[in-house]
Amino acid sequence: MDVLQAIEIRSSIRSFKQEQISDEELNILIKAADRAPRNGSLHLTVLQNREIIAKISEDAKQAMLSEGGWVRSRASEKGYQPLYNAPTVFLITDYGINKYSLLTAGLTAQNIIMAATAIGLGSCFITSVSRAFDGKYCVENKKLINIPSEQEVICAVVVGYPAEVDEHQFKGAGKAIVNHIK
Ligand SMILES: Cc1cc2nc3c(=O)[nH]c(=O)nc-3n(C[C@H](O)[C@H](O)[C@H](O)COP(=O)(O)O)c2cc1C
Repeated sequence: MDVLQAIEIRSSIRSFKQEQISDEELNILIKAADRAPRNGSLHLTVLQNREIIAKISEDAKQAMLSEGGWVRSRASEKGYQPLYNAPTVFLITDYGINKYSLLTAGLTAQNIIMAATAIGLGSCFITSVSRAFDGKYCVENKKLINIPSEQEVICAVVVGYPAEVDEHQFKGAGKAIVNHIK
């Protein structure tokens, strides 16, 4: 599949088969992450331990439930898990959150997402998970997955084989607003 086709067909997938992706597929995604434009080092954590993924997801959900408004109501939806029970989760971390670390994380995530799409995997860009590394969950969860305490979890990409039916479809965005000066 060429890149334009992958861009055309990509959409966020939030329901996955429980089968793990192959090591070959994982290596393609890691390589894609490593090829993204970046400013400085890239800190990537790959989670494929179901218990750890479930704990981090549940902690993020509890943190969302303790907030108000839209975040709380999203977390209250039936069966909602911030990491959607995906078998593989990429966490992108960095020493501090600033313009450059945010942009690097976004570009890295997009490379993972496009490579996943090109090889038939489903994926979703996730920011809600960072709550599992803030406040009361911060020390314990960073320690659990060997993230240095000085690093912040910026975002995640969840990946797996798409389930037949996506139970958690969500379309938050409208059409792009394009300002074209000729
Ligand atoms: C900055 C940012 C944060 C996002 N965070 C989440 C998230 O935490 N959970 C989630 O399910 N989707 C998240 N998304 C995915 C968007 O909901 C999704 O891309 C958007 O609804 C458009 O749908 P599409 O990706 O299927 O085209 C995020 C997207 C962006 C750009």
